[in-house]
Amino acid sequence: ESGAATAAAFPIPAGVFAETVTSVKHYTDTLFSFRITRPASFRFRSGEFVMIGLPNAEKPVFRAYSIASPSWDEELEFFSIKVPGGPLTEHLQKIQPGDTILMRRKPTGTLVMDALLPGKRLYLFSTGTGIAPFAGIVRDPETYEKFEQVILTHTCRFDAELDYGRELVKKIREDELVSEIVGDRLVHYATSTREGETRRHRITTLIETGELFADLGVPPLDPETDRAMICGSMAMLKDTAALCEKFGLVEGSNANPGTYVVERAFVD
Ligand code: A2P
Repeated sequence: ESGAATAAAFPIPAGVFAETVTSVKHYTDTLFSFRITRPASFRFRSGEFVMIGLPNAEKPVFRAYSIASPSWDEELEFFSIKVPGGPLTEHLQKIQPGDTILMRRKPTGTLVMDALLPGKRLYLFSTGTGIAPFAGIVRDPETYEKFEQVILTHTCRFDAELDYGRELVKKIREDELVSEIVGDRLVHYATSTREGETRRHRITTLIETGELFADLGVPPLDPETDRAMICGSMAMLKDTAALCEKFGLVEGSNANPGTYVVERAFVD
């Protein structure tokens, strides 16, 4: 079944964009990314999320998806988990180029530059599909105007789940315009917790033991110079935020910028 075929059967709800899938890539049994056309009037800040649905019901199911594109992208990219029996992802994982995706008009979120005070080094701590908002942020020139160094950590259970992030960084290095801005200031620190020979620990453990900082050759987290964004499961957010607080970082928001921000990787 394709979204395009079912689109005719159900009207597009009022106030919702109906966009076209331009590409789909499957990484593992549980992970895939897709790109859709971008409405001409749609503006967002890198790191924000939108509500996404399929035109397959009178009242479509919508779920929050981080936009994995930087704000300048001509299309919109998303990185998704596949949940067996999940009300949206069960169908979303079957989409193909040409299918229709519904998108609510208003982007929002706290993983934005505006919610952080200026600093020297930006840590982007992610697990699983929590890397999605950071895929936009690491490709946004504004990030490199504000920070000297950007450290993207991605932790997954298994090695193959790190491929989306590896591909992201490879594309940055290969893109003439983006790589000129990014230079050598983006560090990619990818680890798996249930596979591999080295660093087989959660990011929280690598922070606590100092192994992360030793690997990177940087001093431990310091509220004077360091900022952090955190995106992952509920438990990961809680534990990583607690660690940031232990190092003296303070949570920020759009209204009240701080030294770290958090957002759940929305999955169901
Ligand atoms: P682990 O393999 O030890 O559970 P999940 O798919 O459950 O969201 O996990 C994605 C990654 O996040 C895994 O590497 C997992 O490690 C790690 N993780 C799970 N819970 C936490 C937590 N509370 N703090 C830090 N990392 C976590």
